[in-house]
Amino acid sequence: MKEAMLNVRGISKDFGGLKALNNVSFEVGEREVVGLIGPNGSGKTTLFEIINGFYLPSHGSVECCGQRITGLLPHEIARRGIGRTFQIVRLFPKLTVLENLLVAEQHLKGELLLHALLKLRHVEAEDRANKEKALKLLELVELGHKKNELAENLSYGQQKLLEIARALALEPRILLLDEPDAGLNPTIARKVFNVVKELKKEGKSVLMIEHDMETVMGLCDRVVVLDFGEKIAEGTPKEIQANEKVLEAYLGKVKK
Ligand SMILES: Nc1ncnc2c1ncn2[C@@H]1O[C@H](COP(=O)(O)OP(=O)(O)OP(=O)(O)O)[C@@H](O)[C@H]1O
Ligand SMILES: [Mg+2]
Repeated sequence: MKEAMLNVRGISKDFGGLKALNNVSFEVGEREVVGLIGPNGSGKTTLFEIINGFYLPSHGSVECCGQRITGLLPHEIARRGIGRTFQIVRLFPKLTVLENLLVAEQHLKGELLLHALLKLRHVEAEDRANKEKALKLLELVELGHKKNELAENLSYGQQKLLEIARALALEPRILLLDEPDAGLNPTIARKVFNVVKELKKEGKSVLMIEHDMETVMGLCDRVVVLDFGEKIAEGTPKEIQANEKVLEAYLGKVKK
């Protein structure tokens, strides 16, 4: 049994009278790519926000590498090794592609954001290692040729790729991706998925929300299915595809 990188234990979340999540538990192991799927409104993003510390659960807890992270602030959770991208791209538009990554790295080291921003203009020898690391990440997401371009001049898809690179600059042990291919053309979407494959090879874990079943089949080792805030199934992509409860959850939705 691989060591659990992420352990979601009995998470419930109430929004007023609405039970968005009800006693959801699962693990993500080392080097594992786990897909989180479920019909619209089933609680996927809410679960991500709880893992990232943006919401507190009503019940339950989350552990990263055996350590409880529930109750920590989002930036503390990021430092414990949980990386994320945002549904809406949050880059610095007036900084170059490379600078966006360098700021992320400095910020991780504990420097104030403003300090990191000011220092950018004077990248000295001591920062060369950082720069090399940033350039490697840009190669990984196939944006090396855009390193001196302002982030605002990138296409939407390229900005998404840069966001992933920026999340990786913080050296997460596990990366959380919420529909990383949403709104992307197939070419860029493929690049995003290649990055996920590469990360797995490098020994990282990934938890991704994904709607496209074909993508889930091609990328995920295991799948967790939510419906109305409850985990209704968990298994290999093959098992999930043949699972009656899962089919019902989706078909029921279509009929509405
Ligand atoms: N901040 C909030 N306040 C009140 N209700 C919320 C809040 N956030 C989410 N919800 C509700 O919780 C339920 C789960 O929403 P969530 O966004 O987690 O679903 P999802 O599975 O990510 O859906 P989608 O596939 O559409 O992204 C929905 O009924 C939603 O309306
Ligand atoms: Mg969502």
